[in-house]
Amino acid sequence: MTLPFELSMDTLRNKRGIKWGKYPADVIPAWVAEMDFTVAHPIGRAIAETVREQEFGYPQREGRATEAVLADAFAARMQERFGWAADPALVQPLSDLVQGTFAAVWAFSDPGDGVILQLPAYPPFHMAIHDTGRRLIDHHLRSDGERFVQDLDALAAQVDARTRIFLLCNPQNPTGRAFTRAELQAIADFAAARDLIILSDEIHADLVHDDHAHIPIAALGPEVAARTVTITSATKSFNIPGLSCGVMHFGTPELQQRFHARIPHRMLGHPSVIGVDATVAAWRHGQAWLDEVKPHLARMRDKVDAFLTAELPALRWHKPESTYLGWIDCTALNLPGTAHDFFLERARVGFSPGEAFDPEGGRGFARINFATSPRILDMILERMAEAVRSHNRG
Ligand SMILES: Cc1ncc(COP(=O)(O)O)c(C=O)c1O
Repeated sequence: MTLPFELSMDTLRNKRGIKWGKYPADVIPAWVAEMDFTVAHPIGRAIAETVREQEFGYPQREGRATEAVLADAFAARMQERFGWAADPALVQPLSDLVQGTFAAVWAFSDPGDGVILQLPAYPPFHMAIHDTGRRLIDHHLRSDGERFVQDLDALAAQVDARTRIFLLCNPQNPTGRAFTRAELQAIADFAAARDLIILSDEIHADLVHDDHAHIPIAALGPEVAARTVTITSATKSFNIPGLSCGVMHFGTPELQQRFHARIPHRMLGHPSVIGVDATVAAWRHGQAWLDEVKPHLARMRDKVDAFLTAELPALRWHKPESTYLGWIDCTALNLPGTAHDFFLERARVGFSPGEAFDPEGGRGFARINFATSPRILDMILERMAEAVRSHNRG
């Protein structure tokens, strides 16, 4: 059976983008967070209209600035999906979320200040701390046997008076944790006790599976919102990262003013009108597509889970509660090099390297992206199993 949003291997191989272009043609890519699927029709239609009419001048939409329309669509979406009353007046449009992370780190801390980051972590978060001259306070998530959990007591011992920001990724990339209300409240209390800004990347919010739920941390209450900057976009859940459009939301006007005192609005430029059109179409009219894609992602996750259990017991993961990414522990293989290099060389499968997410402890891990068709995922898994069998044979 072909999925309604499936793309064939030939089509994927002919794409010009980085996912299928990075590795040689005999490698199956399972790395960057992008899905091997067609996008929702309303997104295609919105872009086609702009192209057909050659609307490439300075834009407005619905008789207003495009950014006001984007902010309204964001607030309406947050209310509808998560019951969170975000304020459109407190939105800063972004070209991409990494830009937003860098800008917020810059605005709410000074060189040498500490930024807490839960590890393993999406590589640009490391860069946002390192490249701005801030100090990493590494807060390792640890396995409790079932899932990755935080140890805030251990973190308390690491934090000092110059720690300014708790950089949170919820849902978490790469572990796929969707933090519970109690966990988020503990983070909020921790931040309140030390007067930290919470910078919360919630880009994967739409992709929470089973009976887990996404809770925007700013929705916990006004005191939490008053120290929270949330960044999000439609780019992961609707598969449009190349269209470069996202938003940053400040919990209060005071936070917004503090941010703009360091980063004037015009310094961030504007997302392109095609990105705005696509994002607004996704948020307003894309849910039917997402309602088909999400159960498929959960099935692909279950396929990986069943395969690891049956065929590759030396490899372990905690079944992700969200996202289409998983953090696979390959340390039991005792590989001489990195897990990434092993699977690239021996399986011809291209994962994201674990060491990019956790420079010290990540070499034996690989991040898989399972947002593909069952056919392609079967090939990835079979190739992994064959590589491990040949490794075990010596
Ligand atoms: C947690 C997280 N934040 C941000 C991004 C990238 O967002 P952007 O392309 O808008 O910078 C990703 C992409 O994988 C991500 O996983």
